[in-house]
Amino acid sequence: MSAVIAPPNATIVDLSPDLESMQDAVVDGLSMSPKSLPAWLFYDARGSELFEAICEQPEYYPTRTELSILRQHGRQIAEALGDGCRLVELGSGADIKAKTLLRILRNPDGYVAIDISGSQLRASALALAREFPRLPITGIVADYGEDSSLPLEESPGDGPLVGFFPGSTIGNMEPHVAESFLTAWAERLSGGGMLIGVDLLKSTERLNAAYNDAAGITEAFNRNMLCHINRELGTDFDLRRFHHRAFFNADMSRVEMHLVSEGEQTVHLAGQPFHFADGESIHTESSCKYSIDSFRELARRAGFMPQAVWTDDQQLFSVHYLRAP
Ligand code: TRP
Repeated sequence: MSAVIAPPNATIVDLSPDLESMQDAVVDGLSMSPKSLPAWLFYDARGSELFEAICEQPEYYPTRTELSILRQHGRQIAEALGDGCRLVELGSGADIKAKTLLRILRNPDGYVAIDISGSQLRASALALAREFPRLPITGIVADYGEDSSLPLEESPGDGPLVGFFPGSTIGNMEPHVAESFLTAWAERLSGGGMLIGVDLLKSTERLNAAYNDAAGITEAFNRNMLCHINRELGTDFDLRRFHHRAFFNADMSRVEMHLVSEGEQTVHLAGQPFHFADGESIHTESSCKYSIDSFRELARRAGFMPQAVWTDDQQLFSVHYLRAP
């Protein structure tokens, strides 16, 4: 066994949800009709690994397109964010995007990474602390939703706070939730801003392919949520009897992801039975798609002042800089 020595410029704060709030979330979600479960339940260590693998699938264009936008427009992005900002990344996941951005930025004053997956957060905070030995780094294991209280002000440095919210994770919230989420963050980031990645509307074929990769990684990721819940809460989901379904819902402008029950079955949690009809599904995730203008409108309603937008040649993906008043 080898001990990992944390570099002196990295601090980890653990505010992860306890088992009781996990159980409440699952009971609430399975009691709804239609049934749905919150996306943070995807991310145990295996879920984070599978998500990284999704990002590398040939059909899944968002990750590589967003990275290429950051690289191609790095100079303008650095200029928009300004000198000496403190970068706060929401749902930091793997460190590649932060690394790319921190290399581009002018004299960043600090980096705060917030993620629900503790194992992944620790690993990437430590890797970044080694690569940027003079940059104060704080990792916060937490859900970064609108009502969470986060110790942002305690992070070292005094530059303006600039949020970094890549991966079109904003699309995983319903538009009205995205709006109140951004409203809360416009206040937290007052005097700074937010750099945010947003996936764009495109052909149904391309969207359906991105969420149904041929290697079956998205399917494994989706089903892993049940495995995570079984392990932590002792539920008895039969993994062989739930299958993955993802499709673009044009009326709602979103890709929906579901776990569909094969046959009738009953699952137990905390002494309570949850019945599934044949073909009944649990809605596990939505990925809303925007046009550049519809997203700028949403950001405006949330109190941000949209500035520049960068995109790729094919207009697959967009990166927006929003100023917080
Ligand atoms: N933010 C990502 C997206 O909407 C999340 C995501 C990609 C995802 N693939 C997924 C979530 C599969 C659940 C299942 O594109």
